[in-house]
Amino acid sequence: MRHINVIGIGAGDPDHLTLQAVKAFARTEVFLLLDKNEQRQELVELRLRMIEEHARPGHRVVQIPDAERDRTTPAYREAVDDWRRRRSELVESLITEHVGPDGTGALLVWGDPCLYDSITAVLDEILAQGRTEFSYDVVPGVSSVSVLAARHRTTLNRVGRPVRITTGRRLAAEGFPPGAEDAVVMLDGRGAFAGIDPEGVHIHYGAYLGTPDEILVSGPLADKAEEIARLRQEARDAKGWIMDTYLLRRTEG
Ligand SMILES: C[S@@+](CC[C@H](N)C(=O)[O-])C[C@H]1O[C@@H](n2cnc3c(N)ncnc32)[C@H](O)[C@@H]1O
Repeated sequence: MRHINVIGIGAGDPDHLTLQAVKAFARTEVFLLLDKNEQRQELVELRLRMIEEHARPGHRVVQIPDAERDRTTPAYREAVDDWRRRRSELVESLITEHVGPDGTGALLVWGDPCLYDSITAVLDEILAQGRTEFSYDVVPGVSSVSVLAARHRTTLNRVGRPVRITTGRRLAAEGFPPGAEDAVVMLDGRGAFAGIDPEGVHIHYGAYLGTPDEILVSGPLADKAEEIARLRQEARDAKGWIMDTYLLRRTEG
């Protein structure tokens, strides 16, 4: 039967690749790459370099543009459902057209495929439809959240306490997550940290983690919010895109 390796490739440093990921690269005949957009060309190139370095001779690479999500509509849930459906059609056609009946394909995922990524849901949806048969497994990757904590030489949680992982969208809607003491924020297109009450909150901020353009800032949110917002805007203007993650830690109040 066809087999698909879903491989977590880390947050941006080629050295984040685990030995398990490297072995999965070597077992793969065809790499199925969904590209976000041209602005992120350096990420595309980084992925191709990883393949070049670790794939077996004779491997193939197929690249197609990923489905884009409609970010202009206020109907968030519907837009996500529609995007997932189009993504699932794309992935299904990639698998049927490029992975032979007994072949092995790979889908490469930034960070860890099990954190804020829809690829496993997409594969399950394809299988549930019953038109295409394959098996798949998931190779965990070094998440941007792990890299954030490591680069700031901190822990995500405090002793015996929980940590919340949330999105910029939720942070903007509800402020510092109710009931949480430590919260990691991902997928924040608008710098939602600047809109919350900074009193008694410490921020560990990281952009382009693991890459040569990495930005790290840490300190009381009240002192650092402006600086981070400025650095973030400058970086976004210069590169055309930004990927950032941060830990908000309630230190008092
Ligand atoms: C769709 S999620 C994917 C997360 C990924 N699966 C992971 O484990 O890191 C994309 C979000 O991950 C975070 N992210 C991914 N790579 C990053 C990096 N190199 N530096 C900072 N944040 C990153 C950002 O919050 C971004 O909006």
